[in-house]
Amino acid sequence: MTGNTFKTLDDIGDVAGKAGLVRVDLNVPMADGVVTDDTRLKAVIPTVIELADKGAKVLLLAHFGRPKGEYKPEFSLEPVVAPLAEVLGREVAFMPRPSSDAIAALPDGSIVMIENSRFAAGEEKNDPGMAKMIAAFGDFYVNDAFSAAHRAHVTTEGLAHLLPSYAGRSMERELNALNRALGNPEHPVVAVVGGAKVSSKLDVLRQMVEKVDHLIIGGGMANTFLAARGVDVGKSLCEHDLADTANEILEAAEKADCTVHLPYDVVVSKEFAPNPPTRTVNVHEVAADEMILDVGPAAVEALSDVLKTCKTLVWNGPMGAFETPPFDMATVALARTAAALTKEGQLLSVAGGGDTVAALNHAGVADEFSFVSTAGGAFLEWMEGKPLPGVEALQS
Ligand code: 3PG
Ligand code: MG
Repeated sequence: MTGNTFKTLDDIGDVAGKAGLVRVDLNVPMADGVVTDDTRLKAVIPTVIELADKGAKVLLLAHFGRPKGEYKPEFSLEPVVAPLAEVLGREVAFMPRPSSDAIAALPDGSIVMIENSRFAAGEEKNDPGMAKMIAAFGDFYVNDAFSAAHRAHVTTEGLAHLLPSYAGRSMERELNALNRALGNPEHPVVAVVGGAKVSSKLDVLRQMVEKVDHLIIGGGMANTFLAARGVDVGKSLCEHDLADTANEILEAAEKADCTVHLPYDVVVSKEFAPNPPTRTVNVHEVAADEMILDVGPAAVEALSDVLKTCKTLVWNGPMGAFETPPFDMATVALARTAAALTKEGQLLSVAGGGDTVAALNHAGVADEFSFVSTAGGAFLEWMEGKPLPGVEALQS
């Protein structure tokens, strides 16, 4: 992704009385019918309000869960209507099945949520017939769902080819931030990549060594790299079968002049439970019956110094088992350093991916990063350097 060549709402002209098909991501976490995190609801506010205030009929398209092409009541978007209306401060109508007559009868400026796009069998197949049918309901298409842009579905991709298409405000903000972080960043750039398994982030790591000046590897995946270098990691989570792959990544990094930082001290325990007895040791002193559960304080200090020399940070994945105390210390300390540097104007900090946002919230600094993506899978695919169909379609 280089530069941004898509149209935005600035290019949309007069939309009064026109029907806009607006793809948003309302795949929100819910428990007992209550939305437990409204980040994604809030993300749609700028686009929806701007279009409604310009007199457009705003027809919201979204998926919820994975109903696999058939109606299943537990995947209805109806329970999201009221929380969305509250966040927007506007009335939101619900349309189980869109029809041209019903849409024609809507007053200008109205906001309507259409039922889960994945109830239709054609959605995930990006079926051209379905795309044509849905496109007929609108005069223009807006994609404001970066977090679903890794899917080539009717509502994320197909419609963009059939109607005048624009990136919504959240999509625009997201793409601009990501472009500043990796597309055209200010160097030195540091990537923090953590999480449990190397296997789930191989392509991310391969891409990062080509793009960044410093790569900090933490979490369980650091153990695989340590083991590949001959360190005995005891009972630690470790993908021993990926030793060759880990060494290949380290070699590629060396060729690309990317400095890889692995922890040299670690916090270990014999059990993975809250507040067990722990030791902080050099990586070469892990006992056979111990497991590494966090990066140690000396390494954290060195890593903080690395952040201080950098201009741009991309963060995905926690440094340790942060959900179980006290193994959150490295993640929290490093996140706070990044937040402080951001506040001082020293660092542009961009983070994304499921547990990353949870980890930054846990550290209390999510608001202090320059940008925190609403995306999970889409953020990872972007870090892997893969084209995102929803974004590509806006550019063509
Ligand atoms: C997400 O929650 O990551 C997006 O909404 C995409 O959902 P999906 O993984 O079911 O396609
Ligand atoms: Mg997903």
